[in-house]
Amino acid sequence: MALVLKCGRDERAEWRSELHRLLPDMEVRPWHQAGDPDDIEFALVWKPDAGELRRFANLRAIFSLGAGVDHIMNDPDLPPGVPVVRLIDPELTRQMSEYVVLSALYLHRRMPAYAAAQKDGRWRPLPAPDTRSASVGIMGLGVLGSDAAEKLRPFGLPLLGWSRRPKNIEGVRCFHGAPGLAPFLAETGILVCLLALTPETKGILNAKTFASLPRGAGVINCARGGHLVDEDLIEALDSGHLSGAVLDVFDPEPLPEDHPFWRHPQITLTPHVASLTLVHSAAIIIAENIRRMRKGEAPLAIADPKAGY
Ligand code: NAP
Ligand code: GLV
Repeated sequence: MALVLKCGRDERAEWRSELHRLLPDMEVRPWHQAGDPDDIEFALVWKPDAGELRRFANLRAIFSLGAGVDHIMNDPDLPPGVPVVRLIDPELTRQMSEYVVLSALYLHRRMPAYAAAQKDGRWRPLPAPDTRSASVGIMGLGVLGSDAAEKLRPFGLPLLGWSRRPKNIEGVRCFHGAPGLAPFLAETGILVCLLALTPETKGILNAKTFASLPRGAGVINCARGGHLVDEDLIEALDSGHLSGAVLDVFDPEPLPEDHPFWRHPQITLTPHVASLTLVHSAAIIIAENIRRMRKGEAPLAIADPKAGY
């Protein structure tokens, strides 16, 4: 039996060598050289081509190469009954929390305004940031959102969170579900999106959401480009309702050269690097899940097909 691998060309050799080291009896085949599809027991994928996973009649699990599983769940032709396994990796969590802390403090300390002042050669001190009233609201209190909240706690900014189901997290005022969204937004000064992308959360960073934030709020999107309505963000920034945005994810990616985000003075962007899968760490987690399955145990972190994440 074999594992089929669909990853970036640059990481292919490292994945093969790490998996070979951890699972010496497992044959690892590249996506386009899968051989006899009936040999394939496991798929380890990033953005598999729609309908392709169904070719593997003996598939036992589909492992995501990233934390998000939207790139798999959006295939309308997924093989039924085969678990989709999320990647929960402390290295991914650490990187994302670094990015959120960095970006939240960047907006809180008015760095977009100082960057603009520097560009114009102007010495323009702004009033001291009031940490007691500058709240951070995290949409998505899953693996990444809850860790980001924990890492933000020592800075003393009031913290809020919003999720689908109720949560109880120390130091975080938690809201949930549709009724919890408006009160959460009304008190959020810096909005961080770490939601899973599903049909329910697609386009959630829109004009209505921005209008519900206090004037001068900032937005950080490090979940998926599909959460954001691009034109609505530009309008909210240009009208002065929002003061700045940090974006790591886009739809489509790469962000087209002529997209207005590139040159918008209040937008800071990075090319989907907030948290990158590190092969040496992720391979250990995937190998452990395969060992579990071989012992007849369920893999850890199966995505819920009904919830879509
Ligand atoms: P997770 O543990 O599955 O958490 C997802 C969160 O979204 C949960 O808190 C969930 O609520 C919430 N959610 C889902 N649907 C919702 C809805 N309809 N209303 C309100 N809340 C909803 O995922 P994770 O591991 O933290 O990762 C989060 C996302 O980060 C991934 O899906 C991926 O898109 C993104 N990501 C980006 C990068 C990057 O480099 N930019 C890297 C890794 C991950 P419940 O807690 O109630 O279930
Ligand atoms: C990256 O975007 C991931 O989902 O891990």
